[in-house]
Amino acid sequence: HVFEYADGVASKGDYRHFMLKEIFEQPKVINAALEGRLGEHSVLAESFGPDAQALLANTRQIHIIACGTSYHAGLVARYWLERYAGVPVQVEVASEFRYRHPVVPEGTLFVTLSQSGETADTLAALRFAKRLGYIGSLAICNVPGSSLVRESDLALMTRAGPEIGVASTKAFTTQLVALMLLTLALDKTLGKDARDSDGTKHADIVAALKTLPDICRQVLALDADIEALSQAFAEKHHALFLGRGAHFPIALEGALKLKEISYIHAEGYPAGELKHGPLALVDSEMPVISVAPNDDLLGKLKSNLQEVRARGGQLFVFADENVGIDDTEDDVCVLHLPHVHEALAPLLYTLPLQLLSYHVAVLKGTDVDQPRNLAKSVTVE
Ligand code: G6P
Repeated sequence: HVFEYADGVASKGDYRHFMLKEIFEQPKVINAALEGRLGEHSVLAESFGPDAQALLANTRQIHIIACGTSYHAGLVARYWLERYAGVPVQVEVASEFRYRHPVVPEGTLFVTLSQSGETADTLAALRFAKRLGYIGSLAICNVPGSSLVRESDLALMTRAGPEIGVASTKAFTTQLVALMLLTLALDKTLGKDARDSDGTKHADIVAALKTLPDICRQVLALDADIEALSQAFAEKHHALFLGRGAHFPIALEGALKLKEISYIHAEGYPAGELKHGPLALVDSEMPVISVAPNDDLLGKLKSNLQEVRARGGQLFVFADENVGIDDTEDDVCVLHLPHVHEALAPLLYTLPLQLLSYHVAVLKGTDVDQPRNLAKSVTVE
């Protein structure tokens, strides 16, 4: 099986921390999350269970509810579902949703995302949603038999295996895989099956998913370079993460990882918002981390990064191998990642950010797997 156990307890194997082991397990568990769910050119309808087809066919909108890292997966999914399946999406943290008076348009599917399936706010949101006129509920979850799975109409398991590190890593990337499967399944079921407005072919994303575990392996092989980069952060008190489009949530997730395990204050921002506030904070003491995949927002992102340099900021850019960024000056450090289909870039660009926070935390000597004040699963409100 995918996971090693010693006397029924998950073991770290040769890794120093569970978090590092779980980061390196990602190619394997992404593969597991895809297994048996893809046909030659499309998602297999059976992946969502026997009752799924009717529910998906009636879906006109989606509300996604989650907490923490799972919430960030929901934010990425919003870009995907709207662009590739044409379905309007709202995403909200569970602790806010359950105390609002939400208006539920006809044909809305309620989707929860949770590693544990036991997060109190998410579970309470599901119970609350049952009174609100949704057409049904889908849980995307890592723990079979958890409360969330038992109480939802449909469940799609993420198959990441036990995640021990409090800071979520492989649970997040497998949630993203599941959410891309949902996107493709809806695209197919709702009959749009073919291409988004830019001509992206559904079948091309399916093909790209099949190569994803290998590309992830190539990114993990950059670990030593990322470890070297981490030196620049150990003495810092703040950091800013920037991304655009579906990479804005990846910037949020990068910042959350750094906060959680290294206790460095970090914020994630959509790069286009820089000029509306955070630029005031930029100076040589504020490292700015950005992800720069090769997509249609690249030109805009590059000019945002120029604004950082002009203010004396120190830039760290994870960029596509085909993206040229002038790093001849000391104020820019670029690490190139292998090319990946644009649709899957948010998944791939998560990996270097996970490794970066891991190495910074190790340098700082924090308790990586059990950060202070945090719990793996928050089962009380
Ligand atoms: C806690 C964990 C986070 C996690 C969040 C949601 O805060 O420390 O890593 O993202 O709960 O957990 P869930 O199990 O619902 O995904």
